[in-house]
Formats: sequence, C-alpha cells, structure tokens
Amino acid sequence: MDMRPHPFEPPAPLPRTVPPGRLEIIRTILRNPLELWGEPSYTLPWIHTRFFRERTLIVNDPGLIRHVLVDNAANYRMSDIRQLILRPILRDGLLTAEGEVWKRSRKAVAPVFTPRHANGFAGQMLRQSEDYARKYQAAGSEGKVFEIAADMTELTFAILADTLFSGEIVTSSDSFADDVNALLHRMGRVDPMDLLRAPSWVPRLTRLGGQKVLDKFRYIVRQTMDARLARMQANRAAAPDDFLTLLLDQAASGGLTNDEIEDNILTFIGAGHETTARALAWTLCCVANTQHIREAMEEEIDRVLAQDVEPVKWLDLMPYTRAAFEEALRLYPPAPSINRAAITADRWTDAKGETVEIEAGVTVLIMPWTLHRHELYWDKPRAYVPERFLPENRGKIGRFQFLPFGAGPRVCIGATFALQEAVIALAVLMHRFRFDLTDQTKPWPVQKLTTQPQNGLPMCVTPRSLPKSA
Ligand code: HEM
Repeated sequence: MDMRPHPFEPPAPLPRTVPPGRLEIIRTILRNPLELWGEPSYTLPWIHTRFFRERTLIVNDPGLIRHVLVDNAANYRMSDIRQLILRPILRDGLLTAEGEVWKRSRKAVAPVFTPRHANGFAGQMLRQSEDYARKYQAAGSEGKVFEIAADMTELTFAILADTLFSGEIVTSSDSFADDVNALLHRMGRVDPMDLLRAPSWVPRLTRLGGQKVLDKFRYIVRQTMDARLARMQANRAAAPDDFLTLLLDQAASGGLTNDEIEDNILTFIGAGHETTARALAWTLCCVANTQHIREAMEEEIDRVLAQDVEPVKWLDLMPYTRAAFEEALRLYPPAPSINRAAITADRWTDAKGETVEIEAGVTVLIMPWTLHRHELYWDKPRAYVPERFLPENRGKIGRFQFLPFGAGPRVCIGATFALQEAVIALAVLMHRFRFDLTDQTKPWPVQKLTTQPQNGLPMCVTPRSLPKSA
C-alpha cells in the first residue's frame, strides 16, 4: 500500500517567518536565492523593498505583471544585474539584446521556431531520446542507480546539438558538452562584486577562467558556421534543414549579421537545454513520489505509442504527460525570476482602486518561484497536482499567474520546442523504464543559473515489463 501523503508536496524552502539580516541576505543570495523569500512574498500582491539600497518592487499580482510585461513593456528594460552576468557571454543574442537590435533579431529568428519546422525537430527529438534510452538498458532487470539530473542535461544537449547543427560541430575535442557546462557555470553566476554594483572592470573572482572557455567556445561556433556556409554555397539543397542553415539563410537575406548569428547560437545553447533538462528531472522526481500519477502517464504513453503516430502529434495526444511536466514547471520553474527596470516613472491601479507607484529606475522582480506558489492564486500551492493543467481545468489558470516562459514581447521563443521535446523525451523514457527514488535521493531546489537539484538527483532506473500490445 502506498503510504505517501496525498497530494504530494515536493521539497522546497518554506517561506521565512523572520526577515534576514544584511549579511544573511548576501550569504543566501550566493548560496541559494530561493531560500531568501519570506511570507509576504508568497501572500501579498506586491511589495516595495530595497536590496543593497536598490529600490525594488516584487510583483505577484497577475494584472500588474501584465502591465509590466505586456501593456507597458516599452517602459521596462532588462535589469542591470541580469545584463551584467549574461551580456559578456551572449552579447547581442536575443536574450540580452535590447532596442532595435532585439526587434530586428526577434523578427529574423522567429521563422525558425514556427510549426513548419516542428515536424523535423520532433524526429530529431525522438531519435536522440531513443539513442539515450539505450544507456539505461545496461541497468538489467534488477535496476541500477543513475544521476538523472546530469543525464537529462546530456539528453537535452544531444537534442539541441542535433537540431542546431545536425551534429556537425567543428571541434577537435569530443568534450563540447563539457565546454558548454564549464562556460555556463563559470560565467553565468552572481559574484559578490555584482551585488555591490562594482564597475565591470573590477575582476569577478568567481568567473576567472571563464573568458578562456568563452573564447574557445566562440571559435568552435565560428568554425562550424564557416563550414556550413561553404557547404550551402556549394549546394544549398544538400545542407541539413537545421537551426544553423535556417539562421544562415536569414544572414543571406540581411536579417542578421554573422556576429549576431554567432551570439544567437550561443544564446540557444545557453537558454535552450539546461532549462528543459531541469524540468524533466523534476518531473521524474515528482512522478516517482506519486504512484497514481505515474500509472496515468504510463497508460497514456503506452496507448499513444501503440498507435504508431508521428512524434510531432504526441504533445496533443498526451495531455496528462504534458500536464505532469507543466506542474513540475510550476513548482520548479527553471527560470525562477524575471527581472526588469522601469525606464520612466509609471503607475498601475488594481480593480479595487489601489494604486502602485513605480519610480524611474526601480528594479521590478517578477518571480515565477513565488508566483507559482502564491497563496492568493493557487489552491494547495505546494502540492504536485498535474490535473490542474488538464485541458478541462486549464481555463481556471490565468495567463499571468503561470509564467515558466515569461510573457509579452520577450516571451520565451523556444517554449513550444521545449514542451514538444519534454513530452517526447518523457514518453520514450517512461515507456521503457521506471524511475524510482533511492536512499541517496535527497532532492532540494537551489537557484544557480536555473532551478536545479542540489547534489544532483540519483534515481534507480528499472526496465518496465510492458503489456503485450505496447
Ligand atoms: C523549459 C524550458 C525553458 C524555459 C523554462 C525557458 C524560460 C524562458 C523565460 C522565462 C524567458 C523570458 C526571460 C525574460 O523575459 O527575461 C525565456 C526567453 C528566451 N528563451 Fe527560453 N526557456 C526554455 C526553453 C528554451 C529553448 C528550448 C530555447 C531555444 C532553443 C529558448 C530560447 C530562449 C530565448 C532566445 C529567449 C529570449 C527571447 C527574447 O528576449 O526575445 N528557451 N525563456
């Protein structure tokens, strides 16, 4: 008999009941910002506060979120701290570009993500997931423990490398994936100097060595672009139909410069695999704790796979699997905070006539982490209940209370790609294997570049004995 509590509340820091002192704030930001937030952040619609003298507005109210991200989006630029960390790596990639460069790039890149290309990408997602699943066959019928957080990062990287370059990366080393990890974790983190707002020429000790990895990385990307360009010039029709070819077509039509293509490839690598990997790992972890959810997913997956339909249709045909993934995105949003700064003074009034004054220069923190666990907007906010995301219940979730991919003009361009990838990967893996917790599994979310399990996620993988029809 399953004795686990229902509904299951996966582990996460509880709201602080006592505000932290200044030193504790610094320590917590460097160790795990998710542990910083107190009860008001999970119960109030907005809070005016200060971080290191910086005026900050924490926003949870969906109406105010809509105002900042959509209705008056032109008045809100990317916040300084986000740009300080990410711009040296991604330069004018979509995530960090602003103004006219961003506008032109978004227009040029958008066609790559349209449903027209989804079919081809779905095929690559399926192939890579099946290839990866072979690794678990070694588990044998008794099962074996694997590090699932690292595995999901490897799998989503393999999918991204296939959809980006069709595996044609020009590098002499076979450790491109390790270089990516080193780059993201050396460069993309908060340094105490960032918190103190030291000018950018002051060295960030935590990022030392990162520049060397970045230079090597950019060299590899440039070589890969040049090789593909040469191939396209020789015979355009023979070039693979992947992101790289599609982006280079944009260059040919004047939409992007070669430097901007390089920046965007780096951006897709940075924004497009670890995020999905984290949510996949959290989904497997939550599902392993909830027998009835696992069985509902297995039933759906086995049924759809038995019909032999193309993988591009799986997202629509597997609403429960999608819901289990979205519920993990709610509880463990891979991007736990969306930061902006007000350009000019602004104000917003709620339905009850209460007005929020937003001074020029104020940092606006919209945090999917607190928003998705907020007492005002969710029933049983800390419980893992995929049913809330089923099509018949979905209408009750407001557009601006669930923001794993952001909203407005800067909404994640890869959201549909990520959802499709996640459902295909979960279907392939859960059709063949069971993922169970072990005595060493001690999941605890920590905010680094993404919301990741501290100390990884060891899980026992066992082949399933499938029903004959599946
Ligand atoms: C579960 C997976 C993912 C999550 C949770 C996620 C989350 C986000 C969020 C929250 C933003 C908005 C940031 C802001 O407004 O400041 C964003 C933007 C972006 N994402 Fe994603 N993302 C995911 C997957 C992907 C994938 C697969 C790609 C590309 C292959 C991608 C590429 C981008 C880009 C280029 C932007 C910047 C868009 C712009 O500013 O115009 N993301 N993502």
